Amino acid sequence: MPHLESKSIDLAVIGGSGLYAFPGLENTTRHALDTPFGAASGDVVIGDFAGMRVAFLARHGESHSVPPHRVNYRANLWALHRLGAHRVIGVNAVGGIRSDMGPRVIVVPDQLIDYTHGRLTSFCDVDGAEVKHIDFSEPYTEALRQQLLAAARTAGIAVIDGGCYGATQGPRLETRAEIARMKRDGCDLVGMTGMPEAALARELSLDYACLALVANFAAGCGDEAEISIEEIFAHLAAATAEVPRLLAAMPQT
Ligand code: HPA
Repeated sequence: MPHLESKSIDLAVIGGSGLYAFPGLENTTRHALDTPFGAASGDVVIGDFAGMRVAFLARHGESHSVPPHRVNYRANLWALHRLGAHRVIGVNAVGGIRSDMGPRVIVVPDQLIDYTHGRLTSFCDVDGAEVKHIDFSEPYTEALRQQLLAAARTAGIAVIDGGCYGATQGPRLETRAEIARMKRDGCDLVGMTGMPEAALARELSLDYACLALVANFAAGCGDEAEISIEEIFAHLAAATAEVPRLLAAMPQT
């Protein structure tokens, strides 16, 4: 399939809660793509950043109007692919389950468990489409994870290497019992948008990695009896502020 953007895209970024526009993106053009899977969450904004051609898409829309279970993940990934993206970073707000993954910590996970349901999880359910059984043993592209970790080192930003992301349905937060079960399952983090995004990226042979920003301790993991949404957004704003500096240090491929 020919790419629509004349210059190649060095890096695509899908912004999660708290990241609705990419600070520092210059000479931007907006692309509203009509995909075979419907509308993406919004326009893809392409511009220049730190010597790279960067494509940015706000996963929940630019005014945070699309909840996690209603994001058109297929249209989003397809649009980035069609525009010429090869490397995609999914920025995701998460709750921390592991004790060293408290608010404002940044994690580059290496595994995931999918607890979502009722989402459209594959490009293969269109009539006549070839059925692909992708290998998903390693859900994130290791080379891209390593690039993120190298960028964090260069930028002097502390990140945790590895961890298991549990993807829940949302939009509600989880019960203590659900988080206790996820902990027993081996989850270190919980978020609502990691899947099916990672699997769809693999179906399109895109390199994909996750930059998980911890907004709160997950239910029952911190001292608070209740999780405050105001606190979530305050912590998220602090962690999100580091993202452009980290991505500016990404090696160019
Ligand atoms: N659970 C699920 N998703 C989240 C959380 C959480 O506690 N915090 C931020 N995203």
